[in-house]
Amino acid sequence: MSAIEIEQLGKSFGAVEVLRDINIEIASGEFVVLVGPSGCGKSTLLRMIAGLEEQTTGEIRIGGRVVDEMPAKSRDIAMVFQSYALYPHMSVADNMSFALRLAKVPREEIVSRVKAAAEILGLQDLLGRMPRQLSGGQRQRVAMGRAIVRDPAAFLFDEPLSNLDAKLRVKMRAEIKKLHQRLGRTSIYVTHDQTEAMTLADRIVVLNRGRVEQIGTPSELYEQPANLFVAGFIGSPEMNLIRGRIDNGAFVAEQGLRLPLPEDARMGDRDGVVYGIRPQHIAVGGNHARARVQVVEPTGEAQELTLSADGLDLMVEVRDRPPFKPDQEIGLEIAVNKVHLFDARNGTRIV
Ligand SMILES: Nc1ncnc2c1ncn2[C@@H]1O[C@H](COP(=O)(O)OP(=O)(O)O)[C@@H](O)[C@H]1O
Ligand SMILES: [Mg+2]
Repeated sequence: MSAIEIEQLGKSFGAVEVLRDINIEIASGEFVVLVGPSGCGKSTLLRMIAGLEEQTTGEIRIGGRVVDEMPAKSRDIAMVFQSYALYPHMSVADNMSFALRLAKVPREEIVSRVKAAAEILGLQDLLGRMPRQLSGGQRQRVAMGRAIVRDPAAFLFDEPLSNLDAKLRVKMRAEIKKLHQRLGRTSIYVTHDQTEAMTLADRIVVLNRGRVEQIGTPSELYEQPANLFVAGFIGSPEMNLIRGRIDNGAFVAEQGLRLPLPEDARMGDRDGVVYGIRPQHIAVGGNHARARVQVVEPTGEAQELTLSADGLDLMVEVRDRPPFKPDQEIGLEIAVNKVHLFDARNGTRIV
């Protein structure tokens, strides 16, 4: 097991800078998820840690050793990719043992390591099968088996579940978490899916346009997003973000709606403020605002309502309520201590 430290890391392809000022300290045994929209630089960052891509600036240390000049195969890291590309003409057991055979590990040890990994992954009965005889989930498990048999100091995952259907993705997500709890290896996991990030991570690094927006535990990011990007990216449905100003102890939206402020946000009048409130933190039945239902989306355990309040679109999630109908008029109650305020000019958190 190894800590991984990334300091002032940067990457340019020719004149195009794709990563900048990246500083991340990952503790030994920690599960860290890099999350951000497509193209923000997640894979490039992971490939630099693995040694598959050269960095332009900065330093990477694994287990306290600078690895900048160290080739990928010496870094004691195993990577699992989205396209798991098993060797089609090799059995599951041969796919799993390939790297060990290449490294001339003794035969008995290969057998015992493959057996142990197969047990962890529930592949014992499939070791003699060929990849074409496996389901997508089983193939992804074999790909993880290939990584596990190497017993690396750290695992890197690059969107390993993206090729699976939604149900299987949720199941494999739980298996990866279980695997980490069992092996306790330092892991860095890349995804564009905030739910995957929230459910898997000890800590999350939110990346956007090649920069770190925030690093924190899932609950820190959810409860105290540092800026508008993180506020909008983490949480589902998305946080309502409303532009306006503070006037006489209340928030006034550009469209005119007045909304209550938390105690600690009773600041002087101020322009250029964004008011953030999650759909889960607005209740139906109250007198903070009147709204008209536009769209009702039942999810089974809840209803997601798109509302119009004084010309403002609001998303509200309600549970334990009879079905709502379009055009219905309702009152709203804001959970005032769940309100976030941001500076509209630079997007940073005020309260
Ligand atoms: N070999 C390359 N040459 C030029 N640009 C690249 C190369 N690899 C990636 N990029 C660019 O770097 C940016 C980040 O890519 P990537 O790390 O793959 O993003 P992500 O994994 O977050 O989707 C993208 O704009 C991509 O086009
Ligand atoms: Mg990628």
